[in-house]
Amino acid sequence: AGARLIGQPVEDIVDHDDTTLFDADSAARIAAQDREVIITGEPRTYENFSVATAAGHVRSYLSTKAPYRDATGRIVGVIGITRDVTERQRAEEERERLLAVAEEANRSKDQFLAVLSHELRTPLNAVIGWVGMLRSMSLDPAMSARALDAIDRNGRALAQLVSDLLDVSRIVSGKLRLDTRAINLVPVIEAALDAVRPTADAKSIQIQSVLDPRASPVLGDPDRLQQVVWNLVANAIKFTPASGQVRVSLRGVAARAEIVVADTGVGIDAQLMPYIFERFRQGDSSSTRAHGGLGLGLALVKHLTELHGGTVEADSLGEGKGATFIVRLPLMVSRVRSAPERGELAGTCVGPNARLAGLRVVVVDDDPDSLDMLSTLLRQQKAEVRMATSAAEALALVEDWLPHLVVADVEMPDEDGYSLVRRLRRLSPDRGGTTPTVAVTAYGRVEDRIRSVSAGFDLHLPKPVEPAELIAVVANLARRR
Ligand SMILES: Nc1ncnc2c1ncn2[C@@H]1O[C@H](COP(=O)(O)OP(=O)(O)O)[C@@H](O)[C@H]1O
Ligand SMILES: [Mg+2]
Repeated sequence: AGARLIGQPVEDIVDHDDTTLFDADSAARIAAQDREVIITGEPRTYENFSVATAAGHVRSYLSTKAPYRDATGRIVGVIGITRDVTERQRAEEERERLLAVAEEANRSKDQFLAVLSHELRTPLNAVIGWVGMLRSMSLDPAMSARALDAIDRNGRALAQLVSDLLDVSRIVSGKLRLDTRAINLVPVIEAALDAVRPTADAKSIQIQSVLDPRASPVLGDPDRLQQVVWNLVANAIKFTPASGQVRVSLRGVAARAEIVVADTGVGIDAQLMPYIFERFRQGDSSSTRAHGGLGLGLALVKHLTELHGGTVEADSLGEGKGATFIVRLPLMVSRVRSAPERGELAGTCVGPNARLAGLRVVVVDDDPDSLDMLSTLLRQQKAEVRMATSAAEALALVEDWLPHLVVADVEMPDEDGYSLVRRLRRLSPDRGGTTPTVAVTAYGRVEDRIRSVSAGFDLHLPKPVEPAELIAVVANLARRR
């Protein structure tokens, strides 16, 4: 739209101009507006009407149009101002979308708070109730014992809730720390199963487990992996009616350990499936629901698994058909070779003070105190230790002496531990290229661990080094030969 020529049949010109500028539809609409103004003789504003230009761009216009009169007051045309408000309207739509997202988040937060207070009140109620009875009535010994049991159980349930909440908040803020080492998954899974067995027994749910010890070791935090398995098995029991079955298996598939938890329970609705690992998501979060829980378990499972470089997947044939969860974790690839010239580690486990007997260990650290401390610690366990104060010195020692293990500080001037281990890995196996290496570093964040493991270290120990842990790690890495 725009100013029109005077003295010509108005509609001809308008139509002519606009059809060259816009597609037929839009031009017709603009013409209709102009006609409306001419017929009514009133100014009009047309908001956010969309037009397509002849070239095919869709734009959004804001037009104000008024009749144009000659000296006698006769309407001879239309004048108007048109603004292109496409961007403004897009911003508006984006704002509305964000608002909807925020409202949804707020709703699920409200819902979560309702669930949370319910989940806190239930055990609190039991604790307060039983304490009250213990105080005011003289309960017989059997009753008192039941009261104490109930208080204990509910107190622990509360502690579990709080620690799940804290874990989730640590994960969200990226502060969750893994205490990673080479571990065997069998005892981890068994510990989780032991913890849920009383609940399973109470519901007469049978737990079958088939655990292949060859699907180990993995590089992981045993407590956190136990938490992963525990959550999956606890869910399986919770969502399976009495007398059902839960099967847990561990096996090695390709270079991965696969933990499968399958149940014969209520199954998972296909609609919930895509969201099952989101925090606060639950199949039923109503106050009348049959099961407790905060909806944090699977979110924790997913995060913890992923922090270990693994994946988790859920599967269900639908409601009533049971559910299956599969966790896959990368197996540790043992870089350790069988070197004939190294001799047997006959004395590795001969008592608490000689756990490292017969082991040759190179310790490299630019800081003399820390070098001294690490070496002394290892020597106390009867390891044979040679010290290096730089990466270059350490490499020369490795080639020369073929140690069983290298313990290296990561932060060193000139050449750091990452570079050291990268160069070491380039050596051929008979020159020490496959020697197991432990990184010792002041950086304990997950990404630091990932960095040292991807540089070629077998293990990552954050400072301050716990003596017992260092010894265990060294003994463990050496035993895997
Ligand atoms: N084994 C299972 N069988 C059926 N549904 C399950 C199973 N595991 C989890 N779910 C569904 O996923 C939801 C989220 O699980 P989770 O995060 O552990 O929270 P919570 O156990 O506190 O409800 C559950 O509320 C349930 O609807
Ligand atoms: Mg759960």
